[in-house]
Amino acid sequence: MVQDRHCLDCIDLGHQLMELVTATRSAAGSKDKGLTLTHGQPSSMVRMSGKTAISVAGLHKGYGDHDVLTGVDLEVPEGSVYALLGPNGSGKTTVVNICSTLLTPDAGEIRVSGYDVQRESDQVRRSIGVTGQFSAIDDYHTGRENLKLMADLNHLDRGRAKTVVEGLLERFELADAADRRAQTYSGGMKRRLDLAMTLIGSPRLIFLDEPTTGLDPRSRRELWQIVREQVADGVTVLLTTQHLDEADQLAHRVGLLDGGRIIAEGTPAQLKSRVPGGHVEVQFTNAAALSEVAAVLPEATSDPDALTLRMANDGVASLRRLLDRLDDDAVTDLTVQSADLDDVFLALTGHAAETRDGAEDETKLERAR
Ligand SMILES: Nc1ncnc2c1ncn2[C@@H]1O[C@H](COP(=O)(O)OP(=O)(O)OP(=O)(O)O)[C@@H](O)[C@H]1O
Ligand SMILES: [Mg+2]
Repeated sequence: MVQDRHCLDCIDLGHQLMELVTATRSAAGSKDKGLTLTHGQPSSMVRMSGKTAISVAGLHKGYGDHDVLTGVDLEVPEGSVYALLGPNGSGKTTVVNICSTLLTPDAGEIRVSGYDVQRESDQVRRSIGVTGQFSAIDDYHTGRENLKLMADLNHLDRGRAKTVVEGLLERFELADAADRRAQTYSGGMKRRLDLAMTLIGSPRLIFLDEPTTGLDPRSRRELWQIVREQVADGVTVLLTTQHLDEADQLAHRVGLLDGGRIIAEGTPAQLKSRVPGGHVEVQFTNAAALSEVAAVLPEATSDPDALTLRMANDGVASLRRLLDRLDDDAVTDLTVQSADLDDVFLALTGHAAETRDGAEDETKLERAR
């Protein structure tokens, strides 16, 4: 895995400058046209790794008059991890559902494991595993029964099913709880069982839709480790996430989904290099003090309702400039945070990572916790 990653990073070096330099702000200035990047880089990676596991070109999908995907292009080389990063409602699950044949695209050329998702959907289904955003577990069955059910659906013979199920229970640390109903499992256990069910048929390509949402830090790390083991075995992974750190931990490449398109793409290091210092957030006691400071720091964004001001942390000089303008009595809290999804969106699009469907923005919720 480490070697894979280094290899891919090397391949990307020659394209890094091109990727970042070709990012051009749309003259139209509409919300869904922050940046556009050329998509020349994946093809060279494909040549190096041999085959393409997922290829999406010109994908469009709408629900009624709501255009959700308006031209998504992405390529995932075999044996690599691609993270689709985006806020609530940006269309991550829609992309996963289309690639895994659960949804029909309105337009576009989508090939998965070499098969066309519409014309050869059976072959696609046989080649993939999917861990959906919402659990596929039957709560009234035990962990072992859920896995056996999945083994039956995958047409594993009895002997093989037993070996695979017991192996997965051990590997996913569920052996002790195997005969308990899944409804008694913790969130982390359910997520592990979900992933184990996905792996029953030993798919070479797996889709993980927000695999760690709702998990505590330790469970997240455990799940990341399981994903890494899969990748070390040569499995290709397309995962969706709202967390930059998750993409950073797992992905060779990251695509930022916004306004129906991939607006930026690159290695996690490339994306993070756009937002080197994360941000500083200041909590004010009153609106007057907030607007006074906001007026002299045009690069900062303020939220008058929450009485907060947020500014990119570009180093000591910018921190000092901020601190010089703060009055002790007017501030209740000051936090310095490493880069998150909002920082990336702000840096690359000039606007925050807005939700598209009115759902709560988990990144904001997490910040508030
Ligand atoms: N069946 C449907 N009918 C109508 N609109 C839908 C349907 N499914 C999804 N949408 C809309 O499409 C948009 C994209 O939804 P999608 O679930 O793909 O987003 P997402 O990025 O996965 O969001 P989240 O982070 O909340 O999981 C949203 O605005 C959603 O409301
Ligand atoms: Mg989703």
